[in-house]
Amino acid sequence: MSSMHHKPTGGNPSRVQFNTRLGVIATTVGSAVGLGNIWRFPYEAGMHGGGAFMLVYLGFIIVIGIPVITAEFIIGRHSGANVYGAFKRLHGSPCWRVVGAIGIVASLMILSFYSVVAGWTADYIVRSVQNFSGAYTQEALHSQFGEFTASWSAVGWTVVFLLANFWILKRGVQKGIEKMSNIMMPALFVLLIVFCINSLLMPGAAEGLRFLFNPDFSKVDSSVMLGAMGQAFFSLSLGLGCLITYASYFSRRTDLVRTAATTASLDTLVAVLAGVMIFPAVFTFSQSPAEGPKLVFEVLPAIFYNMQFGMVWSTLFFVLLFLASLTSTISMSEISIAYFCEERKMSRTVATVLNTVIAITFGSLCSLSFGPLADMTVFGMTMFELFDFVSSNVLLPIGGMLISVFVGWVLSRSVIDDEVGGQGSVRRWLVSLLVICLRYVAPVCILLVFLGGIGLFD
Ligand code: TRP
Repeated sequence: MSSMHHKPTGGNPSRVQFNTRLGVIATTVGSAVGLGNIWRFPYEAGMHGGGAFMLVYLGFIIVIGIPVITAEFIIGRHSGANVYGAFKRLHGSPCWRVVGAIGIVASLMILSFYSVVAGWTADYIVRSVQNFSGAYTQEALHSQFGEFTASWSAVGWTVVFLLANFWILKRGVQKGIEKMSNIMMPALFVLLIVFCINSLLMPGAAEGLRFLFNPDFSKVDSSVMLGAMGQAFFSLSLGLGCLITYASYFSRRTDLVRTAATTASLDTLVAVLAGVMIFPAVFTFSQSPAEGPKLVFEVLPAIFYNMQFGMVWSTLFFVLLFLASLTSTISMSEISIAYFCEERKMSRTVATVLNTVIAITFGSLCSLSFGPLADMTVFGMTMFELFDFVSSNVLLPIGGMLISVFVGWVLSRSVIDDEVGGQGSVRRWLVSLLVICLRYVAPVCILLVFLGGIGLFD
């Protein structure tokens, strides 16, 4: 966007901003790339038939993902405020603030169960150094992991992770978040490529790739659609104002459309790489792809055993995965922290403590649902599964739909032009396409998939 020709009308110049263009991309991609790509994508794809899931997923990224990311960016930068405050500033009626409230609640739910899995990665750093203490068969790894996730030490790791999260958040937006993302994202990327090459040399490579890339359309049903849509929202950090909050720290120079497209492409690339790394190994070691949340954690050690210097690779990998989870939870936490600070007038420290206390409480319950609390179920789901399902498959799509309707129908066109418009016919064409997506395509798609997924058309 050429700020020379446009006089900026929105934004809030007195607020902290990200320092550099690389910083903007690295933090946004840092928020998007995390356990969603490396842990959640392979297990969701595995449960929903592989190739069919993948294709539907890619469709959602393009048709819903990129437009709604841009919509969140527009709301965030134009208002220069936290999720709740953003809707308050942009629209007089209190109705739209509900979107902000949904975002704050959902972000705390995601933070809770996400920290459990991040805690598992922390434990795996230690196990890597010990070379998985002699659990050399697939069964041994299986039972070792089952025992660990059911134990109190898993709760301990959840807490350790949340304390690390706390420590970085307390240091503030620029120092904490931006610096770490700049170094870590490229490193993770390089490592993934090494592991993909390694997996492609395995005997199960062909079968794994066929599973992931060869769609069997008879498998596409409403639960695959809802799963793929939930995954698209989850992986892009979309639907609860995470990107609204981050965009409120963008400067006027950031090109919102380009940043949205870059974020979506890099995020998708990492998920596909994770799939290429995992599925050949799943078939080589005769695992079931449909195993669920534990899949990746049981397959990865097997991959590392069979590599030269496996211990070094595996330590490096889990350290980077831990850090990638941190850049994601930092972005989730920033939603409620910005709200507590700006709307509830708390100091940053108090707001960060509050965020951490809530997450430790619910995170511990989620962690215990793999062990002592396994029988405590609602609608047949444990606490962990319930938090994941309600936030990813219900609240994120609803939030995303409302955000898209807000920018498509409620926000004035001049605001959209001011934020994403510019010279040239390509740009004008892109903006019109964006508006069509936000007005019709995205909301209708989300609504249909959502209603289908909860069984309305059965
Ligand atoms: N996208 C992140 C991942 O894939 C998770 C995440 C970060 C997130 N911020 C979010 C998910 C906001 C939903 C909403 O790991």
